[in-house]
Amino acid sequence: MDTIRDAVDDPDTLIEAGRQKIDWARDHMPILATIEEEFTAEQPLEGLQIAMAMHVEAKTAGLVEVLAAGGATVAITGCNPLSTHDDVSCALDAHPAISSYARRGVDETAYYEALRAVVQTDPDITVDDGMDLVHLIHTEYPAMIETIIGGAEETTTGVQRLRAMAADGALEYPVFAVNDSPMKHLFDNIHGTGESALAAIAMTTNLALAGKTVVVAGFGYCGRGVARKAAGQNAHVVVTEVEPRRALRAHMEGYTVMPMEAAAAVGDLFITTTGNRDVITTAAFEVMQDGAVLANAGHFDIEIDLDGLEAIATAVTEVREGVTGYTLADGRQINVLAEGRLVNLAAPVALGHPVEVMDQSFGVQALCVRELADAGTRYDPGVHPVPDGLDRRVAEIKLDAEGVAFDRLTDEQRTYLDSWSHGT
Ligand code: NAI
Repeated sequence: MDTIRDAVDDPDTLIEAGRQKIDWARDHMPILATIEEEFTAEQPLEGLQIAMAMHVEAKTAGLVEVLAAGGATVAITGCNPLSTHDDVSCALDAHPAISSYARRGVDETAYYEALRAVVQTDPDITVDDGMDLVHLIHTEYPAMIETIIGGAEETTTGVQRLRAMAADGALEYPVFAVNDSPMKHLFDNIHGTGESALAAIAMTTNLALAGKTVVVAGFGYCGRGVARKAAGQNAHVVVTEVEPRRALRAHMEGYTVMPMEAAAAVGDLFITTTGNRDVITTAAFEVMQDGAVLANAGHFDIEIDLDGLEAIATAVTEVREGVTGYTLADGRQINVLAEGRLVNLAAPVALGHPVEVMDQSFGVQALCVRELADAGTRYDPGVHPVPDGLDRRVAEIKLDAEGVAFDRLTDEQRTYLDSWSHGT
């Protein structure tokens, strides 16, 4: 399969535009810059082939370039057919140690062809966002597993799938759950998704949040971020949940909690963040207000039942770029953003998370890849937490870059905290 430069009409123009986007992002990524300096000097990834399936946009490009600076050869494709920026993909592909197969808007066949092209580079390490590479390797290229050192997984849904695979005894190499490290999910999932989902919705619709009723489905890390930022923009926030402690937490944090069927009747804007399927279905469409706007911020495009919506629609039209209007028999119109794919990356003007947030997530990714290169054979097949020291190191680099000083434990304090012999 051709890489993107051979598949587009004017690669040079795209390379220039992509380079500009990458340079802007990289200028605001001090963690990756620090790691790149080390990687360039020490070449910890020399001779390694890395396969990646991620959202191919400017911040991800920063991670890819840092891995290449460490001596790796990298092949990358998208992890969502709508989140690729073709210009960034071209600029990456122009790097001598990087091949990019990612293109925006490809159909399912081309999407999987690109994944296969990346896997066929016979990787030593895989870096996934959603577990597509791990899945493909285990189902179609099992002979490769013997030489794979390990992998790293970026998102909640990918980690959940990996754990399900491990529980079935089907996961045959070690994978770091990057998503679960504090420097990732406490910032990326909460602040990143909160800010970027609302920004993408605002740019796609040009509608206000203030005064609207925003229904947030799921009060996990992403849902908390979306709810908090929507409330910060003066929306009335309603939360739906299936987990009692999370529902209670939302209630105690001041949000209105109700089942989706009740929320459906009062919401103006619905944002799903569950990582689950069929969260908004026909029962909800039947009672929604005319003009309701639906967006998904979870990984896969199955949170809103679009087949069910289409089945009851009398007409389906693009009412604005990135907005599909479903007209129902009684004349109501329900508007779905970005085809139900994750809105902050797949909407026409979506930029993904803020740069600083991804600097943290990708700092953890880069150090995990290095850990695999340095010590991967120490890890058994299965899902592994990111080593805590490595996560702390990313926090320290970030604090240093921000000029934030913080206290350190004294030896006495450390001894006290580690001992069990002190009572009242
Ligand atoms: P999480 O596991 O912390 O939260 C998910 C929440 O949804 C849980 O509290 C769960 O009880 C709830 N839930 C499940 N089914 C539900 C249903 N039918 N109705 C209502 N609530 C339901 O996961 P996290 O980290 O918040 O991630 C959520 C999704 O967002 C995942 O698919 C993840 O991969 C994705 N993600 C998306 C990002 C983006 O850029 N848009 C960034 C990070 C994660």
